[in-house]
Amino acid sequence: MTSFLEINGLNLSVHSDGRVLPILSDVSLTLERSEAVAIVGETGSGKTLTARAVMGVLPKNAVIRSGTITFNGVNVLTKEGAAAAREHIAMIFQNPMSSINPLFRVEDQMNDVLNWSLHGRKETKEEKTSRIRSALEGAQCYGDGKILRMFPFQLSGGMRQRVMIAMALLRKPSLLIADEPTTALDVTTQKEILSLLTKLTKEEKMSLILITHNLGIARESSMKTYVMYAGRVVEAGPTAQIFRKPLHPYTKGLIDSIPSLDKSRSMEGIDGEIAQQDRAAVGCCFASRCSYAIDKCLTRQPELKELAPGQKVACYVAEQGGLRVV
Ligand SMILES: Nc1ncnc2c1ncn2[C@@H]1O[C@H](COP(=O)(O)OP(=O)(O)OP(=O)(O)O)[C@@H](O)[C@H]1O
Ligand code: SF4
Ligand SMILES: [Mg+2]
Repeated sequence: MTSFLEINGLNLSVHSDGRVLPILSDVSLTLERSEAVAIVGETGSGKTLTARAVMGVLPKNAVIRSGTITFNGVNVLTKEGAAAAREHIAMIFQNPMSSINPLFRVEDQMNDVLNWSLHGRKETKEEKTSRIRSALEGAQCYGDGKILRMFPFQLSGGMRQRVMIAMALLRKPSLLIADEPTTALDVTTQKEILSLLTKLTKEEKMSLILITHNLGIARESSMKTYVMYAGRVVEAGPTAQIFRKPLHPYTKGLIDSIPSLDKSRSMEGIDGEIAQQDRAAVGCCFASRCSYAIDKCLTRQPELKELAPGQKVACYVAEQGGLRVV
């Protein structure tokens, strides 16, 4: 049986300065109806481009070399399939300030989204206003229409994010992709936005892809987690299980870098950063930063294998039964 969303073996490159650079390699992901999955990984790991491929809104210089993406059984890699999928998918882009037009009032922008989603179907002004108000309420934006008359710069970061969510809700999506929806928000607002997204997945039966570099957020708000590194999925599985027992050194490093109030646990970071050559490495993409690496790691990229129930990992050392610093 096919899943609601299925990405299989996605390979994507970008053309840059006369060169073709591999960015995503063999990315696979599945998502069911009403399920919330998180994609985590540090900057440049390929989270946003994976999401954009699902939405069919890739940058002009990006090319999908191979792989398939189906949404509700429809191939989204065709023009018609992408258009059909976009009817049911909404995305909250990474930077809310760049996704809403600073020159127009909230009401005008919400009307634009609504008119687009009505596809020429006529509705009275009252009907439209009522839909806009109910979307704002759904996103917990209250305030007797005052927000509608505001410009984006007059809104707080949290309110801007709620307006973005309300715009997404106007379209009644069956899949919402939220790309770093809480970056730059204070902790309390962050929590409110996340519990709003979780509530919507339950009440509106909406699936959610939550993109974040913050593992704490993934732990609280998703059922399944995909850990990406240098354009590859290196670990994937049930979120609680991954946090209890991460099997990939990179996931372990990310979890160890989460700040904790527990004084017995010291915070350890991962040295270095993703380099372009890691994406095209002959061996494991994480080898240049991995303290568990063995000779074999430099010869071939490990395949993603199920090493615990539902938990897939791409690591030779994990395959051999455990992480031991060498
Ligand atoms: N249009 C583009 N042209 C060239 N390179 C690009 C383009 N878009 C993305 N990239 C590169 O592809 C890689 C993956 O980008 P992507 O935006 O998916 O990363 P990300 O995981 O979302 O990172 P972040 O956490 O910083 O948002 C990065 O190295 C980025 O610089
Ligand atoms: S395959 Fe080797 S280099 Fe890659 S993560 Fe596992 S131990 Fe580290
Ligand atoms: Mg991104």
